[in-house]
Amino acid sequence: MVDVILGLQWGDEGKGKIVDYFAKDYEVIARFQGGPNAGHTLYVEDKKIVLHQIPSGVFHQGAINLIGNGVVLDPVTLRRECDTVSQFGVDLKKNLFIAERTHLILPTHRALDKAAELAKGNDKIGSTLKGIGPAYMDKTGRNGLRVGDLMNKSFTTAYIKLRLKHQKLLDNFNFNEDITQWEEEFFEAVDFLKTLNIVNGEYFINKKIGEGKRVLAEGAQGSMLDIDFGTFPFVTSSNTISAGVCNGLGVAPQKIRDVFGVSKAYCTRVGSGPFPTELNNGIGAELRQVGSEFGATTGRPRRCGWLDLVALQYACMINGVTQVIMTKADVLDGFENLSACTGYKIDGKETNQIPFQMLRHPIQPLYTSFKGWHQPTSNITEENDLPQAMKDYVQFINSKIGVPVRYVSNGPGRDQIITLSGK
Ligand code: GDP
Ligand code: IMO
Ligand code: MG
Repeated sequence: MVDVILGLQWGDEGKGKIVDYFAKDYEVIARFQGGPNAGHTLYVEDKKIVLHQIPSGVFHQGAINLIGNGVVLDPVTLRRECDTVSQFGVDLKKNLFIAERTHLILPTHRALDKAAELAKGNDKIGSTLKGIGPAYMDKTGRNGLRVGDLMNKSFTTAYIKLRLKHQKLLDNFNFNEDITQWEEEFFEAVDFLKTLNIVNGEYFINKKIGEGKRVLAEGAQGSMLDIDFGTFPFVTSSNTISAGVCNGLGVAPQKIRDVFGVSKAYCTRVGSGPFPTELNNGIGAELRQVGSEFGATTGRPRRCGWLDLVALQYACMINGVTQVIMTKADVLDGFENLSACTGYKIDGKETNQIPFQMLRHPIQPLYTSFKGWHQPTSNITEENDLPQAMKDYVQFINSKIGVPVRYVSNGPGRDQIITLSGK
C-alpha cells in the first residue's frame, strides 16, 4: 500500500522533516510531482540539509528513493544534491532511482520562466524561476524531453530542435541573457545523470507494492498551490494533491491508504497571490522572526498570518486526508493570544467555502480567538505535558476540519514530534 505525506497550505509546512521522521517505517519513498521549486529541510547529524529533487527519505539506508514520472527534473540541481547526500555516506547506486518518463528541465525552461515572469510585471506569480512552468508546459504541449530520452543517440538533435523553438519564444520576450554556462553545466550534469539508476517507474513501484513493501509518497508545494484547486493563477504547474500520486507514480487509487496532511499551526505563503489571513503587522513580523520564515529555495521572506481553517478544511476534503500533522506549534509559544479563521466575509456575505476567485472581491477573515499557552514547548516529548491551551487549540481545529490532528511537531529536530492519542 501507499501512504502519502503532503502539504495542506501554500507550501513549506515542514514536509521534509515529517517525511524524514516517518521514512524509517517505509521501504520506498517517492516524489510524485514538482521539481527544484521545492525546498524540503531536514536535519541529519545536527546538520541542516535542504533537498530540492531527491526524496526526503534518502538518509535512511533501508529505504529506496524514487523520483517519479510526475516530477520535473533539473539535472544540475540533482547532481549538486547527489554530491551533498553522498558526503553523508548515502550510496546512490543502492538508494536512488529515477523514472524514465520524468520530464527534464532544460536551461531554456529556466530562461523562459524568467522571461515570462518579467513580462507579467506587477501580475507576476512570484515563481521560484526554476523552470517549472515552462517544463510542465512542454509536457502537456507534447514537446518535452524525458530522462529516458537521454539514452537515445538522437538526444542532442532533439535538444537542439527544442532549444530552437524556445529561442523563438525568448526572442518574442526580448530576452537575451547568455545561457551558455547553464548549458555547459546541463550537459555535464546529464552525463552524471546517465550513471544513476534509471528505471521504468510504474513497473518498479508496482512490483514493490506487489511484494508487500511499504511506499510513502512525498508531496511538494502545498494543496493551495495545486494547478486545479489552488489559488489560480498564483499556483505551481502540477497537481500537488493526493490525486497527483496516481499519475505522478503510476499507482492505482485503491493502493492509496493513509493521507497524512501537514499543516503549520499558522499560515505562510511565499510569492504572490491571495492570502486572506495575512498579517501585515507586528504579529506577522513576529511569526516570521520566531518561525525563521524565509524561503528554503529562494531565501525570500515568507508572508505570515493566522491559521486559515476554511482553506485547511478544503485541503482535507480534496485530498481525503486521514490524519493531520500540525507543525511549528512551538512558534506560537510566546504569543499572548492566537486567532484562527473560521469563515470569510465576501461582499457582506459569510461563507466557509473557498471562492472561485479569491482576488476579485476583498475577503474579510472571520476569526475565533484563543488564549495562548505562553510557555516553552519545544522540549516536551509527551502528550500529557502539552499545555491545556494547546490541546484546546488542537481540539478546536479537529472540530472545524473534521479530521484529527494526530501529531504535533514542536521543533525542527528529527525527533521533535509528539503523537496525540485523540482522547
Ligand atoms: P517543506 O518545504 O514543507 O519541507 O518545509 P521547509 O523546509 O521549506 O520549511 C519548514 C521550516 O520549518 C524548515 O526550516 C524546518 O526546519 C522548520 N520546521 C519544521 N518543523 C518545525 C517545527 O515543528 N518547529 C519549528 N520551529 N521549525 C520547524
Ligand atoms: P515546498 O515543496 C512554497 C510557489 C512560488 C510561487 C508559485 C509558483 O518547499 O513546499 P513555481 O516555481 O512553481 O513556478 O512557483 O509557487 N512555490 C512554493 N512556495 N514552497 C514551495 O515548495 C513552493 N514551490 C513553489 O513561490 O508563488
Ligand atoms: Mg519548502
